[in-house]
Amino acid sequence: CGIVGIVGKQPVSTRLVDALKRLEYRGYDSAGVATIDDGALHRRRAEGKLVNLEARLKEQPLVGTIGIGHTRWATHGAPTERNAHPHFTDGIAVVHNGIIENFAELKDELAVAGAEFQTETDTEVVAHLLARFRRDGTGRLEAMFAMLRRLRGAYALAVLFEDDPSTIMAARNGPPLAIGHGNGEMFLGSDAIALAPFTNQITYLVDGDWAVIDNSGVLIFDIDGNVVSRPRQVSSDAAFMVDKGNHRHFMEKEIYEQPEVVAHALGHYVNFIDNRVAPVSGAIDFAKLPSLAISACGTAYLAGLIGKYWFERYARLPVEIDVASEFRYREIPLSRQSAGLFISQSGETADTLASLRYCKEHGLKIGAIVNARESTIARESDAVFPILAGPEIGVASTKAFTCQLAVLATLAIGAGKVRGNVSDEEEQALVRSLAEMPRIMSQVLNSIQPKIELLSRELSKCPNVLYLGRGTSFPLAVEGALKLKEISYIHAEGYAAGELKHGPIALVDENMPVIVIAPHDRFFDKTVSNMQEVAARGGRIILITDERGAAVSKFGMTIALPNVDEIIAPMIFSLPIQLLAYNTAVFLGTDVDQPRNLAKSVTVE
Ligand code: G6P
Repeated sequence: CGIVGIVGKQPVSTRLVDALKRLEYRGYDSAGVATIDDGALHRRRAEGKLVNLEARLKEQPLVGTIGIGHTRWATHGAPTERNAHPHFTDGIAVVHNGIIENFAELKDELAVAGAEFQTETDTEVVAHLLARFRRDGTGRLEAMFAMLRRLRGAYALAVLFEDDPSTIMAARNGPPLAIGHGNGEMFLGSDAIALAPFTNQITYLVDGDWAVIDNSGVLIFDIDGNVVSRPRQVSSDAAFMVDKGNHRHFMEKEIYEQPEVVAHALGHYVNFIDNRVAPVSGAIDFAKLPSLAISACGTAYLAGLIGKYWFERYARLPVEIDVASEFRYREIPLSRQSAGLFISQSGETADTLASLRYCKEHGLKIGAIVNARESTIARESDAVFPILAGPEIGVASTKAFTCQLAVLATLAIGAGKVRGNVSDEEEQALVRSLAEMPRIMSQVLNSIQPKIELLSRELSKCPNVLYLGRGTSFPLAVEGALKLKEISYIHAEGYAAGELKHGPIALVDENMPVIVIAPHDRFFDKTVSNMQEVAARGGRIILITDERGAAVSKFGMTIALPNVDEIIAPMIFSLPIQLLAYNTAVFLGTDVDQPRNLAKSVTVE
């Protein structure tokens, strides 16, 4: 799931591994590096984490001043050393992210021609295709071009040719690739964060591009083989120092950063001096929209679902929302007058990008709520709404979620205003509530840890957990369950509280903790009835509510948060559910920042 490359002056293997470490946040299950030394390709690969690869390199060091490296998140074939990249065939080394969709067809064709495959990966066809073209006497450049024309699917590729120890070739169609310009050295990485210690001078390849990189610079070609020029920019991503500070895990650091980053995000969209939301910039005219289509994946989707409640309530704007993997294929009838809004932390999620392009083809204006401002989704949108959360390294999203919510809330209020549904007084009251959010977040983070620890210890013994919520607390219940299962591997489900009696109630007994998210809002009494249904069947209720709710609750264990206005409740109530998942995972000793099988940036369908 991460690619790096260096054309260096000094031996590169240590720096390749360092760069791979900066891509660890994307998730992976094996890793490898290859260099050229003395006219021959050499590689070291290892299953599991980069420490294993480092140990391998310590036993058997790699010299060579040019090299490529890879962290693999298995798609085709198990995460074994044999399937780990780089793949070697006839003096050609290849690393790849993405999925070659026609690999089976290519593999058959190549096998008939005598190719012997060493792995189960789709990637290996790339090396074999190149080798075949080279055997026909084709030059390296032409072979690369001919090979790319045979591929269908999504890929980022880096290639070394043994007979050219001064050049790395790269190609992009889908997963991102950044080229870094150094001082007499050149770099390649899946993003600018990987290259941060080496350079902040970055050129991004666009889809269809391929490049020839040597120590004098880079030559970029488009899909048709024409030389193209792509801008060189100073990356702001590279400026971020990515470390854990005083925290045990990035996830913990990111949870505790929320008051700060949410304030930062709000500051961008709200004028706290006169308590107004900033007018939404030109490309999308919320006043005239007949409807809004929202799509995203995972946690970003759940932020979008909360956004739907807000757009419908405050702006009376109908919202069509679906997870991107469904949205892109549903053949939704879309009006050209409406707009699409895509939410993505990474800005690279393949399904979200495909949904965006689907809407674009249907003539909709496109808005994107992203964290990575230099991402593909950002670049392909008419209006970009950055969430300004800073790099999120923990695979389980936390601060990006609350910042997405903060941005969605301001957009919904702004839309409500221009659509005549939110008065000046209402706007000011809502903005005043938003302004309180960072302070209340700090207060909550500083006070609930003892109770969370107690509860997490209990949860860590449970095989199943149910989360319930109503209104905007429903998507939050699903997010709570998602967070818990992602990092603690405990089976958890999030349900609309009213749906309890239509199924999940069958699971309720004295062993089943039921976490109910219920601020004392318009829905509180209804949710209390649902809790009664659980209590009557001996279920263990854990109620997350506010002081008003706690005062009237007679159920089980209660976490009482400060009383807050309805608009900020989802952000405030995110904190206990994040901390519950985090602490439970810590008790269980899982790999919190890089949970098994998960990836941070999912650039495959
Ligand atoms: C992966 C991550 C999730 C994330 C989802 C969408 O599944 O593990 O944390 O919510 O992708 O990612 P995006 O970058 O588009 O927000």
